[in-house]
This record gives sequence, structure tokens and C-alpha cells, in this order.
Amino acid sequence: MSSPDELLRIEGIRKTFPGVVALDSVDFDLRRGEVHVLLGENGAGKSTLIKMLSGAYRPDAGKIVVDGKKVRIHGAQDAERLGIATIYQEFNLVPDLTVAENIFLGRQPRRFGLIDRKTMEADARVLIMDEPTAVLTSGEVEKLFRIVRQLREDGVGVVFITHHLEEIAALGDRVTVLRDGRSIGQVSASTPEDELVRLMVGRSIELQYPRERADTGTPLLTVEGLTRDGVFHDVSFEVRAGEVVGIAGLVGAGRTEVVRAVFGADPYDKGSVAVAGERLPRHDVSAAMTAGIGLVPEDRKGQGLLLDASVEENLGLVTLRAATRGGLVDLKGQRTAAAKIAEQLGVRMAGLGQHVRTLSGGNQQKVVIGKWLLADTKVLILDEPTRGIDVGAKVEIYQLINELTAAGHAVLMISSDLPEVLGMSDRVLVMAQGRIAGELTADEATQDSVMALAVSSPTTPTTPTTTVTTDTVTAVEGPDGH
Ligand SMILES: Nc1ncnc2c1ncn2[C@@H]1O[C@H](COP(=O)(O)OP(=O)(O)OP(=O)(O)O)[C@@H](O)[C@H]1O
Ligand SMILES: [Mg+2]
Repeated sequence: MSSPDELLRIEGIRKTFPGVVALDSVDFDLRRGEVHVLLGENGAGKSTLIKMLSGAYRPDAGKIVVDGKKVRIHGAQDAERLGIATIYQEFNLVPDLTVAENIFLGRQPRRFGLIDRKTMEADARVLIMDEPTAVLTSGEVEKLFRIVRQLREDGVGVVFITHHLEEIAALGDRVTVLRDGRSIGQVSASTPEDELVRLMVGRSIELQYPRERADTGTPLLTVEGLTRDGVFHDVSFEVRAGEVVGIAGLVGAGRTEVVRAVFGADPYDKGSVAVAGERLPRHDVSAAMTAGIGLVPEDRKGQGLLLDASVEENLGLVTLRAATRGGLVDLKGQRTAAAKIAEQLGVRMAGLGQHVRTLSGGNQQKVVIGKWLLADTKVLILDEPTRGIDVGAKVEIYQLINELTAAGHAVLMISSDLPEVLGMSDRVLVMAQGRIAGELTADEATQDSVMALAVSSPTTPTTPTTTVTTDTVTAVEGPDGH
């Protein structure tokens, strides 16, 4: 029976793409004044489902009922007329942002920035948010939650997608679980997390950090006195063979800027970077890659992938480059290796020939990671590696990190997920205001000790002119998020 509060209902929706059944007989309903969470693994069909409501895709079969009437939503205008507003996953990269732009005025790319609630209320009765918290800081998440709760009080129905299980009880009312394109159940948002995971993946998975310390060898990455005026200052550290070094810090601390400079993607003014003792030229990605550095960037779509190339081509990007230098390309070997890594990472795809643009968000991230794993990099830098990744795949990635270090590689990992940094790092560097504020061993590193350093003001008294104010760093980091 439909509830008198029902805003919309989806019945038996089916959607196929060449080689993929993205949705197979999905049911869903949304009430006035509720936050309804859509939960499912990477590739389960969450984004595809909400695109039926936003008018981006049309269903092959099934019906959508709004206010008791069957409707067709054939474009953004139909959705807007029905009061349905959508914030897409990685919304800054979706060209048609008119509705979202009306709602989220004055935001920076990849950030919500200022949210104009009045405009939102005037516009939307149904608000769909596809992983809005994936790119937000904890402060921004709090702000977003306050706004969503207010909207709920005002009677708006909110469809909320997240891979952060702790957000479900904090914000949600009901949860619909999708698995392999099917809606397999509807439960209360107060359902325990382990039960939610079991529904989602069909078995129990414990989100734990399976770090196995490897034997530590010689320094593979040595960074000395790295400085980029106004951005980061006198950054020195090393990462040894077999080590995982985490970089923690608040947004704006300069973490992404430092690793981009180490990788040669950005210039620096002073200091040096060496791989296995060999000093690298500055601002030269090609030299860094040849020396054996890999970077999984936080902005996978902008920097990590060729969206209109296949999974296989993307996986082979780095190795192919190395292979062509020798004049011979072993395409068959490439394909076998690509198939193996895709399988290991559980990339959900129609086949190795599928264009990366049409993979789900989490599966795109797996391809970026897989590309570097295949390339056999000495030093792998991971910038927010598990953003948008489901619970099961997270554990897979942690296990791959263990395998890498056991094989003598070095891993440098930035993460805003503090439990992840604490759980997977052998040492933690904490950055604040463009400097390394301190270094903690795995034993010393706790939420409290890391946070104390992250909010400290690590200035160098002898060179007051190089003091970086928080404002400067924030301004530089603004558009990039983390
Ligand atoms: N335009 C498309 N062409 C081909 N396949 C597609 C297209 N869009 C989605 N798919 C496929 O449909 C399936 C569901 O993808 P969807 O993006 O809905 O997953 P998701 O649940 O949002 O995952 P994630 O948590 O990773 O964002 C995936 O196998 C994906 O590759
Ligand atoms: Mg998605």
C-alpha cells in the first residue's frame, strides 16, 4: 500500500546498456520529509537509478509514479517541473548542472561551499544527492547534514547515496539496498552496519585494516627541504622499501600540493626529490614515472583516466609507455595482465573493451589504481585512494597495499579518512599550514595525537617572511578540495 506521504514510487524499473543489465526490476519509494538512503556496492546501479528520476536516462521497462500519477521523465526539464532536483556524483564534471547550480550557489568546484537553502526550498520537493559527502571535509559534512535535516523538516524527500556507513544512522530514515541491479530489501536506517553490509554484498565483511608490516629496506623516496613559496615549506621525509607512510592533515594543509610536486606534476622553488638515491629533475612527470613513481590522484576523472578509452587501454597506459620505449609491444601479455588486475580488484564491467566513462564511479577508481599496480612502480603515491569505494573493495585495496610493500615497494598515502591512515600506515606525517608539523610512529599515532599536530602552527622562527597563513594556503587549495 502506498503511504499518504508518498512523493514518488518506482516499480519494476529495468535499464540495460550494451552488455550490461544495470537495473533489473527495481522498486523504490520516497516519502515527504524523509531521507531515503540508496546503498549498494560499486556498480550496483545506484547512479543509474537516480538518473531515471533526473531525466538523464529513460527506463526500458517499469513505471515511475509521482503524486499518484504515472509520469514520463524524458529530460532535465521534466524533472524540474516535477520538483525533482539532482546533485550528481562528482557533479562538477557533469555538463548539465543548471538545477544543481541554482541550488548550490557560489560553490567552488568539488565543494558545496555556500548552500542557498531558500533557493533549494523554492525549487525542489525531491532532492537527490549522489555521494555528496565523498568530496567533503568533516566540517562540510556537518554543515550539509544540518541543511538536509532542515529540508526534511520542511517536508522535502531526500534520496541520499553514500558509501560511508556511519552516515546512514546519523542522517537516514529508510534504506533501500541494491545488489547487482536489483532492489533486494528495504530496512530502517538504524539497522546495524554489519547487517547493512551483509545485505549489500550478500556476505559478512568486516571493515578492518589488515596492515601487515613488511621488512623495511633502503629509502626509495627521499624528499628534502621541498618548498613552493606560499604553498608548502621545507618539507622533508623519506619512504623506505616496504613502508606505508601516511600523510594526515586538514584540508588546506598542502598535502596534495606536496605529492603533486614530488610526482613532477607541479613545480617547486627549493629542495630536492630523489628515487632510490637518484635525484629527479623538477616538474617533470615523465622523469618521475621513468624513475618509478606512480600517483593515484584525488581527481581521478581530471587526471587519472582517459574517459573515452577502454578499461584495457587505461590499465595499460603506464606499462604501454614503458613497453614502447623498447620498441616492442606485447599486446597479448598486456591483455592478460589487464584482465588479471581487473579481476583482482573486482572491476565491475561488461568487458575490458568497455569505455571507462561508462563505469560506475568506484570502478573508475579501481582502474586508476590498477594502472599503477600493473606498471610495477617503486613508489606508489595514493591521494585519497578509497574515496567512493565500497566496503568490500576497500579491504581489497588495503590487501594490495600489503602485497606491494611485502614485495619491497614503498607507499605514500594521503587520506582524510583518519581511521584508514591510522590503520594502514607504519608512520604518519602530519601536515599543517604547508609544513610537516610532526611525525608519529604507528604506535604513537592516535586520533588525538594526529589532530593535535594537524591544528598546530608549525612555523620556522628564523624565517618569519616565509610564514604561511592559513588563508594563503586555503586560497591556493580552494578549488581542489583536499
Ligand atoms: N552509459 C553506460 N553505458 C554502459 N554501461 C553503463 C552506463 N552507465 C552505467 N553503466 C553500467 O551500469 C552499472 C551500474 O552503474 P552505476 O553507475 O549505476 O553504479 P553505482 O551503484 O552508482 O556505483 P558506484 O558506487 O561505483 O558509483 C555498472 O556496471 C556500469 O558500468
Ligand atoms: Mg554511482
